[in-house]
Amino acid sequence: MEKKKVLITGASKGLGLAISKKLSGEYTLILHASKEENFTSVEPGSHILCADFSDAGQLAGFCKRLKAEHSDTLYAVINNAGVTFDKSLIYQPEREIETMLNVNLKAPILICKTAMKIFNQNKRGVIINISSVVGETGNAFQSVYAATKAGLVALSKSLAQEAAALNEKHEIRVLSVSPGFIETGMTVSIPEAEKEKYLKLIPAKRFGKADDIAEAIVYLLSEKASYINGTNIQINGGLV
Ligand SMILES: NC(=O)c1ccc[n+]([C@@H]2O[C@H](COP(=O)([O-])OP(=O)(O)OC[C@H]3O[C@@H](n4cnc5c(N)ncnc54)[C@H](OP(=O)(O)O)[C@@H]3O)[C@@H](O)[C@H]2O)c1
Repeated sequence: MEKKKVLITGASKGLGLAISKKLSGEYTLILHASKEENFTSVEPGSHILCADFSDAGQLAGFCKRLKAEHSDTLYAVINNAGVTFDKSLIYQPEREIETMLNVNLKAPILICKTAMKIFNQNKRGVIINISSVVGETGNAFQSVYAATKAGLVALSKSLAQEAAALNEKHEIRVLSVSPGFIETGMTVSIPEAEKEKYLKLIPAKRFGKADDIAEAIVYLLSEKASYINGTNIQINGGLV
């Protein structure tokens, strides 16, 4: 039997790369990055589908290809690609605001739209949108980034309800995952003094690793998680 397909956006590094390593074997992966040359390693047998999500034309082409080439056995979508430009809103150029809105929110919305069409037809599927702890708590110098991440939580809850409204019998789940402070390229440039400050707020007394998120994704995609739907799962070491 053909393996179920899982799309992972932003799979060239960080969380997306760790998730792809954990899911490989059980699923056929569709791996996304903004450019093919950004992949340093790719799980064997994976499909590659690249697009710069800050470019409306490339995003539209990506969704079209996803539907045309992978509708048959698409089982899940992990909307993980994301970008942040940390600074005061007062000094944030509009092009950075647009990039965060397009990559972090518009792209997941349009990919969800494509996936929901496929899942409504197949009567099954899982979407996991990668949000962030700051989508709930807010964070100084990340106001636009935090706003996009809060949007993903509301998007996921709404789509879970919509899937039920459109289908009498179905196995469609939509949820979000909010990582706390995870050691990846996205957090590497945070000044040491800031990191020390965050560490004091984490009861687990360590920053998260990409595998802490990847392990949870493996579970959330599985049948064992069939009753987890329309909610936001926080994975943050107890960050308060
Ligand atoms: N690390 C954390 O502490 C943390 C905490 C909470 C939430 N998150 C969220 O988790 C997700 C993964 O973060 P990460 O830490 O793994 O970040 P990362 O290491 O910086 O990886 C980001 C991924 O997003 C892709 N991406 C960035 N800009 C893009 C664009 N314009 N078009 C298409 N793809 C683009 C990158 O692809 P390229 O290689 O092609 O650029 C890369 O694969 C993000 O949504 C982030 O907001 C992270």
